Amino acid sequence: MNQPVTTPHSPTVVLGVTGSIAAFKSIEIARLLIQHHIRVLPVLTQSGARFVGPVTFTGICGEASRMDMWDPSFSGELHVALASQADVVLVAPATADIIARFAQGRADDLLTALTLCARGHVIVAPAMHPRMWAHPATQRNVQTLQRDARIEWVGPVVGPVANGEIGLGRMAEPQNIVSAVLARLRPPDLNDWHIVVTAGPTVEDIDPVRFLGNRSTGRMGFSVARRAAARGARVTLIAGPTELTTPAGVQRRDVRSASDMRSTLHDVLGPSLGGADALVMAAAVGDYRPAHIHNEKMKRGAQPIQLELVANPDILAELGSMRTGSSPLLVGFAVETADEPTLIEHARGKLSKKRVDFIVANSASIGFGGESNEAILVGSDDIERLPRMTKDELADRILDRVIGLRSGRG
Ligand code: CTP
Repeated sequence: MNQPVTTPHSPTVVLGVTGSIAAFKSIEIARLLIQHHIRVLPVLTQSGARFVGPVTFTGICGEASRMDMWDPSFSGELHVALASQADVVLVAPATADIIARFAQGRADDLLTALTLCARGHVIVAPAMHPRMWAHPATQRNVQTLQRDARIEWVGPVVGPVANGEIGLGRMAEPQNIVSAVLARLRPPDLNDWHIVVTAGPTVEDIDPVRFLGNRSTGRMGFSVARRAAARGARVTLIAGPTELTTPAGVQRRDVRSASDMRSTLHDVLGPSLGGADALVMAAAVGDYRPAHIHNEKMKRGAQPIQLELVANPDILAELGSMRTGSSPLLVGFAVETADEPTLIEHARGKLSKKRVDFIVANSASIGFGGESNEAILVGSDDIERLPRMTKDELADRILDRVIGLRSGRG
């Protein structure tokens, strides 16, 4: 594996892994953190190690997995040494038992002792059966810990737990947990911003069971929303139909058709568009809709049928023409099947037609569906070609450019 390099000077996270089936996801968490050049020091409780072994974490993190306060291979106080190095202590998954022990201030194993000794933030991602989470004893412990401002909670979320039952107790998704860590490690540079993001496909109904849609998954827009929130912005995410969970700290408005998206955007931005500092229009808005929506399901027949389509409004172009000054900053996307020169040419065309500040252009074969993306940021007088990166990383590059534009304009 081509691992990003981390050094003892890299931002450092102690990853505490306790005894839940969700421990297998801690490997993904470690991997994502390392991709962000974060040094990960794994600490496993005895029960955590029954789910995923220390050798796996040592291999992934390139750092010794620690389990024992009295580790003879370490000279000195291991809990103090780890706590002193950790910019953040992340406990994921956190069982009902470790939460109870944190609430009591126990220090009788390595993870509890180093958490008491931590100098920075402690992020806790609970994972347990929903009845354990809802139990008054667990809720009392959570409330006790909520009085400690250094402790931040990510999840749990509603979803299937280990035995297939569905409820509030599932660990938050690794990406959301990692975003919470990144937010603590990166100075929040979008603190005074309200960023509106659109994401996902729009869907145009034909009849009560059929629709016209597209292949957008919404991942790119959700990454922009997640990273903007992690960097301190107030974020409104206007999402077409998608399976994705709402990123932590993001306010979400669900829409279906292009016309729903348009009216929700106007509602959020207000008549003079003063309701946001930036709009990142990552949604794949359908260009056409059926001229009529049938109230009843259309019946099958032997003859070919014609579906009359009418054009949807170009939402971004409309907002671009309404904007009088330079706010909100407008970012468009252009997904094309063409080769690179044509992609850039089309992006330039959209930039001027829609009067936006820059276009994130990418090829449909790369951008759709996957976790990574390779984009070209096309401005009015420059082009920034970015290498293939995760959608979260690309989201950060887009937000960096948005910040740069505002500071450039004073
Ligand atoms: N867009 C929009 N309203 C539409 C269509 C697109 O606001 N009815 C926005 C998209 O969210 C994206 C940008 O415009 O940010 C470009 O979308 P794209 O589909 O690539 O471009 P179109 O203008 O639809 O042109 P074409 O489909 O012909 O390439």
